[in-house]
Amino acid sequence: MFISFEGIDFCGKTTQINLLKKYLENIGRRVEIIREPGGTAISEKIREILLNKKHLEMCDETEIFLFSAARAQVVREVIRPLIARGCVVIADRFHDSTTAYQGFGRGLSADAVKKINEFATGGTIPDLTFYLRLSVEESTKRKNVCKADLDRIEKSDDVFYSNVIAGYEKIALEFPNRIKGIDGEKSAIEVHNDILSILYETMNIASDRRGVI
Ligand SMILES: Nc1ncnc2c1ncn2[C@@H]1O[C@H](COP(=O)(O)OP(=O)(O)OP(=O)(O)O)[C@@H](O)[C@H]1O
Ligand SMILES: [Mg+2]
Repeated sequence: MFISFEGIDFCGKTTQINLLKKYLENIGRRVEIIREPGGTAISEKIREILLNKKHLEMCDETEIFLFSAARAQVVREVIRPLIARGCVVIADRFHDSTTAYQGFGRGLSADAVKKINEFATGGTIPDLTFYLRLSVEESTKRKNVCKADLDRIEKSDDVFYSNVIAGYEKIALEFPNRIKGIDGEKSAIEVHNDILSILYETMNIASDRRGVI
């Protein structure tokens, strides 16, 4: 199974991925986490170029190709072989991030984004995507609490993030069977339980078997 996590910065993706990995391992599944952009030697080098705070001159077209190049590599080198071996692969961001950030956030043509996404993934897309909904205000609050050392993209302004959210909402409506929106403003444990409910619903496993299998 291939699962991705999406949402704006600080929505809780990494927190939830770690909780889900622990849960699935406890029930005997092998789980691998892929961080985007990254996950291979080549993709990690591309990550450094993309997130480098000094690269303020990067144009939007370069940005989408670099994200997509990193994804093309991780799909073929890592994700497909893991899925073939029966692993549960969890991606910390995947192609929906490109639609939301480079498409809606940067304003690149929807048609170009769709074609580039299809070419990079070669049809390997998640079976299930958890979209953690968070307001720009809450994201900013968490950012300030973390006092994070922000990367180039995390330094974007509120208008950019509002557009990214509009993008996520649009694709969540467009692909309701794959993309499941979850209230990311609840506590981490509540969000985790919502994720498990959806996972079990999707896999058609009765929720009373939860924790037993
Ligand atoms: N449900 C929650 N309620 C409140 N705070 C949370 C919740 N989930 C995570 N946090 C906190 O918010 C911050 C961001 O969480 P996390 O790193 O999991 O988000 P992320 O989506 O992976 O962010 P990024 O996009 O920057 O990688 C952390 O300080 C984390 O402890
Ligand atoms: Mg994270």
